[in-house]
Amino acid sequence: MHVQSTLISLLALANLGAAKCPVDDVSIIANTGDSVGREEVHDGVNLYITGNVSDTAVLYLTDVYGINLTENRLLADSFGRAGWLTVAPDLFNGTPSPVDMNEPGFNLTSFLAEHGPETTDPLIDVAVKYLKDTVGVTTVVATGYCFGGRYAFRYVAEGKGAAAGFAAHPSLLADDEITAIGGPMAMAAAENDTMMPPERRHNITALLGDTAQPYNVALYSGTSHGFGVRANVSDPQQKFGKESAFFQAVRWFENWA
Ligand SMILES: *[C@@H]1O[C@H](CO)[C@@H](O)[C@H](O)[C@H]1NC(C)=O
Ligand SMILES: *[C@@H]1O[C@H](CO)[C@@H](O)[C@H](O)[C@H]1NC(C)=O
Ligand SMILES: *[C@@H]1O[C@H](CO)[C@@H](O)[C@H](O)[C@H]1NC(C)=O
Ligand SMILES: *[C@@H]1O[C@H](CO)[C@@H](O)[C@H](O)[C@H]1NC(C)=O
Ligand SMILES: *[C@@H]1O[C@H](CO)[C@@H](O)[C@H](O)[C@H]1NC(C)=O
Ligand SMILES: *[C@@H]1O[C@H](CO)[C@@H](O)[C@H](O)[C@H]1NC(C)=O
Repeated sequence: MHVQSTLISLLALANLGAAKCPVDDVSIIANTGDSVGREEVHDGVNLYITGNVSDTAVLYLTDVYGINLTENRLLADSFGRAGWLTVAPDLFNGTPSPVDMNEPGFNLTSFLAEHGPETTDPLIDVAVKYLKDTVGVTTVVATGYCFGGRYAFRYVAEGKGAAAGFAAHPSLLADDEITAIGGPMAMAAAENDTMMPPERRHNITALLGDTAQPYNVALYSGTSHGFGVRANVSDPQQKFGKESAFFQAVRWFENWA
């Protein structure tokens, strides 16, 4: 009898120990499987749209692989499950880059000639206009990855449309794009990132500190450029980094949008 009740108490304790704190529940994140959103063309721009209509919407700005990459769709879907209508414009008009910006075969000169801010901003403007005018959301927040990370910063500038932003391993981000932010900005950085080596990361952090806006910079060990979207989730550190970067963005938007 005594042994049995002790056993029951131990089992109860074990169950308590196994209960997950909500912040550790990663079930809304999909890393594999089929995406659940749809594509619609508005003002000539293909938009990947996912999640239900909400007062605050997420503008999802992709890496160079664009909205056709399954991981980009799945991550946009995860923001949808977090409670936000999420829209990702096709930043490359159907022809994304076959390789990442940090790979040796990537011709930055020709890519930038075709995809600089003068070409990219108008595409993003269509997504912002769709959210604000067509859907009628009150607030837009921006999340961006690699190529798109720079634009998450750009869209938090006064008058560009986003109230708060998050960027994972942004590339080609200029100092004046950081100092121009007009709202809270968070960033996730990879340990191994030739596009943002430690000195650059420190400078970005210092520039954020000069803005007088709320900011947050998190560095994830064992990660490489691209991990926010394309982490190898079989690797425990990369999986933790990708999921934590997602929740970093979610908490940021919940607090500051
Ligand atoms: C959207 O709303 C429907 C109906 O309430 C619900 O079943 C579904 O889970 C919601 N989708 C998301 C991504 O929240
Ligand atoms: C998008 O992906 C689908 C399925 O993988 C493929 O058939 C299609 O050609 C891709 N489109 C673009 C624009 O890359
Ligand atoms: C990169 O593209 C530019 C412009 O298209 C071209 O002039 C240059 O030769 C290319 N560089 C390489 C290494 O292919
Ligand atoms: C760092 O990133 C590069 C390029 O993505 C990759 O080739 C290399 O294996 C990575 N190194 C480590 C230690 O993760
Ligand atoms: C970092 O900032 C210092 C001081 O402004 C500057 O001299 C240096 O070139 C910057 N380095 C990078 C990688 O941004
Ligand atoms: C992903 O990570 C696992 C575990 O570390 C490793 O065995 C596998 O080779 C990795 N896959 C790739 C494509 O790097």
